[in-house]
Amino acid sequence: MKIFLDTANLDQIKEAVSWGIIDGVTTNPTLCSREKENFNDLIKKICDVVPGPVSVECVESHAEEIVKEARKHCEIAENVIVKIPICVEGLKATRRLSDEGIHVNTTLVFSPTQALLAAKAGSRYVSPFVGRLDDISSDGMALVEQLVPIFNNYGFETEIIVASIRHPMHVVEAALMGADIATLPFNSLEKLVKHPLTDRGIERFLDDWEKVKKAMSQKEK
Ligand code: G3P
Repeated sequence: MKIFLDTANLDQIKEAVSWGIIDGVTTNPTLCSREKENFNDLIKKICDVVPGPVSVECVESHAEEIVKEARKHCEIAENVIVKIPICVEGLKATRRLSDEGIHVNTTLVFSPTQALLAAKAGSRYVSPFVGRLDDISSDGMALVEQLVPIFNNYGFETEIIVASIRHPMHVVEAALMGADIATLPFNSLEKLVKHPLTDRGIERFLDDWEKVKKAMSQKEK
């Protein structure tokens, strides 16, 4: 499974990339609004450090305008892909952009029919927002469970980005279901590494290693 970082924070991106496990980055207007930097400069810097696709959101509402905005985003760097919310105008724009070879990530997906139409329009990725479904007492991961066989049934190349991840179990379930990608905030990524038994085990090994060193130095005397 590919792991994307869901942030526009350059420090977090650099840190996560240094771990050697990051395959891409997803941004959105909310995440960009938290950074105090010119939008284009920020995206360029992110693209320079990420070894994979960087999703950049389009905010225009009409297909013609979305297409122009998307092309502009793609001029920033080679690894920019455009994020377009699912809607009729978004589908029209997606078809045109994908025919031009521009990769689209269809975002704000909350139903299997939205994802199916995005895939038919040529979208390279679809992003079901699992946490936001959980927030309204719906089952976010149940949507992913439907999308995996739907895409497999028809051989769609569209990849599923499990987004709006809130905790490590979302990632575990996504991996068990065979979702292609999980995109998660940095604090959730950190939680994937941590285990209290690992921390305790490392501590004990270090204590015992001190004993080994002490015994060796006593022998030498
Ligand atoms: O990638 C989508 C993500 O940014 C949305 O997350 O936590 O705002 O639902 P959240």
